[in-house]
Amino acid sequence: MSNPFEQQKAIPEVKHIIAVSSGKGGVGKSTVTANLSIALSKLGAKVGLLDADIYGPSIPRMLGALNQIPEVNRENKLIPINRFNIVLMSLGLMVEDNQAIIWRGPMLFKALEQFLKDVQWGALDYLVIDLPPGTGDVQLTLAQKIPISGAISVCTPQNVALMDVKRSIDMWNKLNVPVLGLVENMSYYLSESNEKMSLFPRGELDQFLAQTQIPKIGEIPFVPKVATAAEIGIPFVESAPDSSVTKAFLEIAEAIIRKCP
Ligand SMILES: Nc1ncnc2c1ncn2[C@@H]1O[C@H](COP(=O)(O)OP(=O)(O)O)[C@@H](O)[C@H]1O
Ligand SMILES: [Mg+2]
Repeated sequence: MSNPFEQQKAIPEVKHIIAVSSGKGGVGKSTVTANLSIALSKLGAKVGLLDADIYGPSIPRMLGALNQIPEVNRENKLIPINRFNIVLMSLGLMVEDNQAIIWRGPMLFKALEQFLKDVQWGALDYLVIDLPPGTGDVQLTLAQKIPISGAISVCTPQNVALMDVKRSIDMWNKLNVPVLGLVENMSYYLSESNEKMSLFPRGELDQFLAQTQIPKIGEIPFVPKVATAAEIGIPFVESAPDSSVTKAFLEIAEAIIRKCP
C-alpha cells in the first residue's frame, strides 16, 4: 500500500505549520488561535493564520476583517489580509456572512488545497491553522498534504470536554503529528475585582496530561472582555496588552517558539 503521507508537500517559505485543534466546538479554539497568532508576532515572528474551520469560519470577525475581500496578484494567487501584523486567509472572506457552507468531499479537498497552494503566504515563521472541532476530513486532509510541525489542543476543564480531547489527541498520534501541548481555556472565571470562580467542575484533565506526558502550556481564565474583544474584532492581546490574559498568551507563544524554533 502506498504511504498516505507521501503526497505531503511543504509550503515554500513557511517554516512551521502549527495546527490548533479541539475535541469540541465552543471551547475557545478560534479565540486561542487569534490571540496566540498575535502573541507570536509580538515576539518577533512572522505569522500567517489560516482559518480552516470551513464549516464555521469565525476568524474574520474576531480579527475585524469582515467584508475584506482578498485580492488576486498577477500569478493568480490570493493575497492574504493583513491585520495586527499577521496575514490571514479564511473562507469567511469569500462567502456571504450567513450562507450555509455545504461541502462534499472533493470540494473540501479542493478548497483546502487552494488555501495552501494558491495563497501568497510569503515568508513565514509560523502558519497557525484554526481547525474545525473533532477528528474529521479537514484534519486528515491537511495532515496528508502538508508537514504539520505540531498540534496544540484546546480544552475546557470538565470531563465532558476531556472525552473528546482524548480522541483528538489519539488522532494526532495516529497521524504522527506531535502534540506540542494543551491550552486549558475557561479554567476559571476572573471577575472585574480579580476574584476567581470555577465555571466547570474540574475533571481528570490534569491526570490525563500527566499520564500522556502532554504539557499544559497555558491556562486562560474566562474573562468577559475577551469575548467582547472577539465581537469587536480586536483580539484581547491587542486591546489589553498589559493584562494577565495577554501575559498567558505570550507564555504560550514562547512555549511554541521553544518547541519549534
Ligand atoms: N477565555 C475566554 N473568556 C471569555 N470568553 C471566551 C474565552 N474563550 C472563548 N470565549 C468566547 O466563547 C465563545 C466561543 O469561543 P470560540 O473561540 O469561538 O470557540 P471555538 O472556536 O472552539 O468554537 C466566543 O464567543 C468567544 O469569544
Ligand atoms: Mg472556532
